Amino acid sequence: MNNFIFYNPTRLLFGKGMINQLTQQIPADKRIMITFGGGSVKTNGVYEQVTQALEGRDYTEFWGIEANPDIDTLKKAIAIGKEKNIDFLLAVGGGSVIDGTKLISAGIPYEGDAWELVKKGSSQVTIPLGTVLTIPATGSEMNNGAVISRRETHEKYPFYADYPVFSILDPTVTFSLPDFQIACGLADTFVHVMEQYMTKSNESYLMDRWSESILRTLVQIAPLIKENKQDYHLMSEFMMSATMALNGFIAMGVSQDWATHMIGHELTALHGMTHGQTLAIVFPGTLRTLADKKRDKILQYGERIWGVTSGVPSARIALTIDKTEEFFKSLGLKTRLGEAGIGDDTIEEIARRFDERGAAFGEDGDVTGEVARRILQNCK
Ligand code: NZQ
Ligand code: ZN
Repeated sequence: MNNFIFYNPTRLLFGKGMINQLTQQIPADKRIMITFGGGSVKTNGVYEQVTQALEGRDYTEFWGIEANPDIDTLKKAIAIGKEKNIDFLLAVGGGSVIDGTKLISAGIPYEGDAWELVKKGSSQVTIPLGTVLTIPATGSEMNNGAVISRRETHEKYPFYADYPVFSILDPTVTFSLPDFQIACGLADTFVHVMEQYMTKSNESYLMDRWSESILRTLVQIAPLIKENKQDYHLMSEFMMSATMALNGFIAMGVSQDWATHMIGHELTALHGMTHGQTLAIVFPGTLRTLADKKRDKILQYGERIWGVTSGVPSARIALTIDKTEEFFKSLGLKTRLGEAGIGDDTIEEIARRFDERGAAFGEDGDVTGEVARRILQNCK
């Protein structure tokens, strides 16, 4: 294991009806801003539960944080937050609302333009934030990351602020999710594990087993959720898998990759493609391109997740990658750039951007523009 510091202060409140705990979680004297997305919470009872729990409190609602939260929308919330002296934020939604609210939490105490914070990549000065999660996917409910977009320039970058002080996870609120969002959430969770697992061999037996436990749970529940997406037990497993996949627990002492994510962010920035969908296309291509380098880990993954135990190593690796792609297909996602109508011009633009930014992703920092080009060529 490599040296590490582990820190995660987010209090999790899990289960049916737990939204009513909001009263106890937010101090009574706070001036609250509640942030929302496009309105799904008005159709599934979440809005009512939140506003009932906060009846009599001093709160302002901010609506319209879009999927892949846009800096212009967030600046509007920041302006209102400054004007009203907001000192507590409650994000009610998915990764986009939570991520956007993380930037708002850093933007309210910041004097300058909030995009400067995104370009800087992080901010330590924030106001406290709690969340009510409505879609299992990003892990944003229990980490300090956010990903902020700027549609005007087709850019999308990671940004780090503070962890939510609490997050409420009630699996029943996911019952209204469209099939596509469930598929994207499952793919996102799967690839989050992979970014921290599919790196170097034997750094930690324990982290490998924790990662594999999440992967195996996802493989087990995905077809069952397709049959019944309103099954409390299954959606509980999904919700906890997504949270545990990106809250630091499986990252202790091991290398991390993140090349697939960084390439995926460019597909979203350039084409508006949903996050989980980008990963289902890019990740199999990453494995194909880096199969030699990741050889031993792919063999371990193939054996422990897909039961691939016989044949020469090259055949086992090929079969394992095929099974991974099949899994994404079984969710109902596209797995090739061609299916999404994306061609060489996009591949070249992403390679150019990576070169221009001096990109060095992957566990060894060797995924440059040229390697990204090869990965994307292998996604065709
Ligand atoms: O906006 P509303 O109307 O609420 O609809 C949303 C949105 O259209 C809908 N939805 C959410 N909960 C629902 C629901 N519809 C019905 N019932 C519910 N219970 O789903 C749509 C997608 O929501 P979004 O928040 O965009 O999904 P997700 O949680 O996948 O977040 C994606 C964003 O998170 C970033 C992605 O890049 C993307 O911008 N990520 C954040 C990470 C982090 N903070 O650590 C890591 C991830 O790798 C990821 O990059
Ligand atoms: Zn992700």
